[in-house]
Amino acid sequence: MASILDHLFDSAFFDQSIDYLAETLDLAITVLDSEGLSVASRQAKGGDTLASRTYPFSFPSDIGSIVCAAPNQDLLDQAEPHILYCLASLNSQLLRETELQETTEEMLQLSSQLNFLFKVAKKIIGIDDLKKCYQIILDEISQTIKADQGFIHTKGRWDEEIRVTHRMTDEEVNSTRNSICLKQKAAGSTIICTREDGASLLYSPIKEKDGQSGQMVFHRAFSASEKQLVAIIENIISPTFETLRLYDSLQDLYLNTVKALAAAIDAKDEYTHGHSFRVAKYAMTIGGQLGLGNQQINDLEIAGYMHDLGKIGISELILGKPGKLTHEEFCLIQKHPVFTDKILQPIKLPVHILEGATQHHERMDGTGYPNGLAGANISLFGRIIAVADVFDALTSKRPYREALPVEAALRTLCDGIDSLFDREMILAFISALRSELSKEALADINMGLRYDDIQNLNQFLIELKEFALDANRG
Ligand SMILES: [Fe+2]
Repeated sequence: MASILDHLFDSAFFDQSIDYLAETLDLAITVLDSEGLSVASRQAKGGDTLASRTYPFSFPSDIGSIVCAAPNQDLLDQAEPHILYCLASLNSQLLRETELQETTEEMLQLSSQLNFLFKVAKKIIGIDDLKKCYQIILDEISQTIKADQGFIHTKGRWDEEIRVTHRMTDEEVNSTRNSICLKQKAAGSTIICTREDGASLLYSPIKEKDGQSGQMVFHRAFSASEKQLVAIIENIISPTFETLRLYDSLQDLYLNTVKALAAAIDAKDEYTHGHSFRVAKYAMTIGGQLGLGNQQINDLEIAGYMHDLGKIGISELILGKPGKLTHEEFCLIQKHPVFTDKILQPIKLPVHILEGATQHHERMDGTGYPNGLAGANISLFGRIIAVADVFDALTSKRPYREALPVEAALRTLCDGIDSLFDREMILAFISALRSELSKEALADINMGLRYDDIQNLNQFLIELKEFALDANRG
């Protein structure tokens, strides 16, 4: 049953119109709903009303009509222009109110979508693990639509399958995915269906530009009219997933480009082959020991790859010169952090990455280059990469000497505590190397590392730490 009264926010004009037709024109008025039942009526002042005419309201669906009755057909004919005028006014009010209602609904929906997106965006900013992002999205949707269980099954960065669940075991996910109702109905659109055990499921496909990339299923007693929930899911989630996946692969692309650049620089000098890669890994090891977050460690990796980028502007003949460098040659080599800065400036990298890449030759006592920065004026990334860079230089073969064993390189670093290197960074490196996996981890970074006495490395590191902590040096 539908009636004009369901569609009028303001019924005053409607009441005035039928009052006017009844009182001024002396008509009996009955307003009917779509099933012919009276929803409003006015009596005529006098006499029988033997003649009547029905005027339906103009609306996309049947919302009833207005029946006007008069003592005879002539009186109805005379009243008809007034009746049609009132009807036209009511129809235009209906149209205006319907448009207003649709706009309000659209705005409410948009606002709830924006709210939802804002909440999710706030939570996933800075999270670089795609699966964790999916988990947050799933939990947020479940909370928004008050689902007691749910899962998302979709693609990861390289199209591998990713599944995240909300209060659902793997067996429950599998039995839901295999349930007849989903298999029969699940297609390219959102549906609500009932599982064999009576559970109500909300299924929504995750669509990307090149087709369907996954599915989301939620469990709760959903009613067929819960279309607003469906709208949130359909309109927001698929583009969000696509953007997240694209962003994730772009980050990889960026990192791979940086790695390729680093490899190109390392290749300029046979003695520094793999240097940037190893410095990045050593720097990450120190950062991990210092308790830096995932994002910062990723940034350290990039800074490590980039730290000698400026060497691209220096001749291979100087970089690989076996003998002593002339003063001019040494001055030119000292400029490579400045060249790095010039190359990276236009990319608008986060400032800590730029600082890490350009300050790794600064020294704690201010004797470094290119700016002679000292102590805490050298950025954290600069102080970390300085240690990583020197450790790799010492443990790698040079035209004028063999690679030093790990122990000798660490001792040399410790000799430079406070004067050249930050004590905290060296202690962090020593502590990281003491961990169970240190030997394997180091071997992964540089297979050619030599040791004086690998069997007793841990004992050596304990003693070295005490030496590094020596109060006389503080
Ligand atoms: Fe360098």
